[in-house]
Amino acid sequence: MIPRTYTDRIVAPSLLAADFSRIGEETSRAINAGADWMHLDVMDGHFVDNISFGPAVIAAVHATNDVFLDVHLMISRPDHYLERFIEAGSDLISVHVEATHDVSETLKRTRDAGVQAGLVINPATPLSEAEPYLDQIDLLLVMTVVPGFGGQSFMAETMPKIEQAAALRAERGLSYHIEVDGGIDPKTAPIAAKAGANAFVAGSSTFKAPDMAAAIQSIREA
Ligand code: DX5
Ligand code: ZN
Repeated sequence: MIPRTYTDRIVAPSLLAADFSRIGEETSRAINAGADWMHLDVMDGHFVDNISFGPAVIAAVHATNDVFLDVHLMISRPDHYLERFIEAGSDLISVHVEATHDVSETLKRTRDAGVQAGLVINPATPLSEAEPYLDQIDLLLVMTVVPGFGGQSFMAETMPKIEQAAALRAERGLSYHIEVDGGIDPKTAPIAAKAGANAFVAGSSTFKAPDMAAAIQSIREA
């Protein structure tokens, strides 16, 4: 696996938009189409109004393919389940600042296990909520939809937070990726890239595209 920095463009297709009856093949299809990371959306039916999959499915993806696993935990108690997601083979685990846990402690435990740590803010959450933790993270995920479902429309009003996060990164000499998630396609990715995002999660616009490789390439070239 090639290590990536925040100056690299990363496209992470979300498995949520894949055919769940063929998860291994769908992951291979994304990798062959040029995916840099696979984005795995874990939903507990409590933190968000949807239930997706858990550590067993992530372990299955990990067993079938050698790809960087970008795991997004939309669960109320990430601290309680953390070890199970680490053991499943996650390379990066992102937790929501809005969830019920000691955020600093969860990030520390993640990094101590040799896994990259990400922090997520919802569209309604100001960047100031994430600010105290910026020196503890490898990735900041700025949600561009209200999490829970694929196929929603991109919220451009979240872009100022990306600009602020990029400015703070430079000011503080940090190096976290800035990732966007929700409604990302070849039309919206350039808007997020211009604001300062370098990692692009894309579900519907990649897995459901007639030509997945072309879709991934046009998002990367945004
Ligand atoms: C939203 C998830 C996203 C979702 C994106 O709750 O966190 O990762 O899969 O799907 P699209 O790209 O279809 O908006
Ligand atoms: Zn996600």
